[in-house]
Amino acid sequence: AHQWQGVLREYADRLDVTEATPIVTLGEGGTPLIPARALSERTGANVYVKYEGINPTGSFKDRGMTMAISKAVEHGAKAVICASTGNTSASAAAYAAHAGITAAVLVPEGKIAMGKLSQAVAHNGQLLQIQGNFDDCLDIARDLAANYPVHLVNSVNNDRIEGQKTAAFEIVDVLGDAPDFHFLPVGNAGNYTAYTRGYREDLEASRATKLPRMFGFQAAGSAPIVSGEVVKHPETIASAIRIGNPASWQLALDARELTDGYFGAIDDAAILRAQKILSSEVGVFVEPASAISVAGLLERHEAGQVPAGATVVLTVTGHGLKDPQWALRTDDGGEVTPTVVPVDTAAVADVLGLARA
Ligand code: F0G
Repeated sequence: AHQWQGVLREYADRLDVTEATPIVTLGEGGTPLIPARALSERTGANVYVKYEGINPTGSFKDRGMTMAISKAVEHGAKAVICASTGNTSASAAAYAAHAGITAAVLVPEGKIAMGKLSQAVAHNGQLLQIQGNFDDCLDIARDLAANYPVHLVNSVNNDRIEGQKTAAFEIVDVLGDAPDFHFLPVGNAGNYTAYTRGYREDLEASRATKLPRMFGFQAAGSAPIVSGEVVKHPETIASAIRIGNPASWQLALDARELTDGYFGAIDDAAILRAQKILSSEVGVFVEPASAISVAGLLERHEAGQVPAGATVVLTVTGHGLKDPQWALRTDDGGEVTPTVVPVDTAAVADVLGLARA
């Protein structure tokens, strides 16, 4: 029986992997591209959701981490380090555990989701909460990697971008061409850069006939690329993308230029509405940062910027179970409390509004 072999083996001919590369994989990639009828009906476009929450640690980071950890081990690294808003730390800790090396992870104190924190701890990451924000963590991680024997696995490491570009390959493989538009969340803009590279390579190799227009979205309180200025104190409930000084800022501007793309900002309330639409109408549960792809599509549709019949792919980057608290919030900020009933069929039927047949 065939089992998906992970992105390094599946796309070995398009990545810098050789006989000398020890392949550290948990079977990442090969994620579903789900037709989203409810979103197609709302917008008149043909909308697909690339569900990256299905990856081994529940986010797209695994595509880049299999490459970064494999290359680190190839180069003899015994320890890796990263700064993270949570998902990178979960992925780095898991892949380092699988490889038998150490992962040190720096996260902003009190600002990462509980599911992600538990993952880093479960996989034996050396977890440090830094008394600052993500940008402070990344500064320290870069400093350490430059001056101590630790290998940096943030997306400033090109191996991460290389691994992540495979998501674009999978989309072209399934659709038979690139989509017209690609919507995704933007934090450091590593993934925006990676998709653009994957699509460009598909175009150059004649696997695709066009580049999609790359549409990236930041949370309104953390939107440096949109405003053109570093945000000193970024704020948003979408903690994964609470980043004020994106590492791949210039690469992202280049990618926008190349693809006739766009960067927009979405407020937290619209992010949470989009999360609910996706979970209740499409059946896909994502963390808030990922829902910004959906919110971005709805906003651009409202603005008349998405032509009817266009093929649109939305990357939803992380699983909803990583940060489940938001689904349990009511619109007025209260807490959802499931109805309690006695052990009695008639009482349950009554609450459900069912009449006896
Ligand atoms: N979505 C999720 C769920 C993320 O965790 C991230 C980034 C992004 C989108 C943005 O991707 O940075 O390539 O633009 N998370 C990083 C982390 C910062 O540490 O897990 P980007």
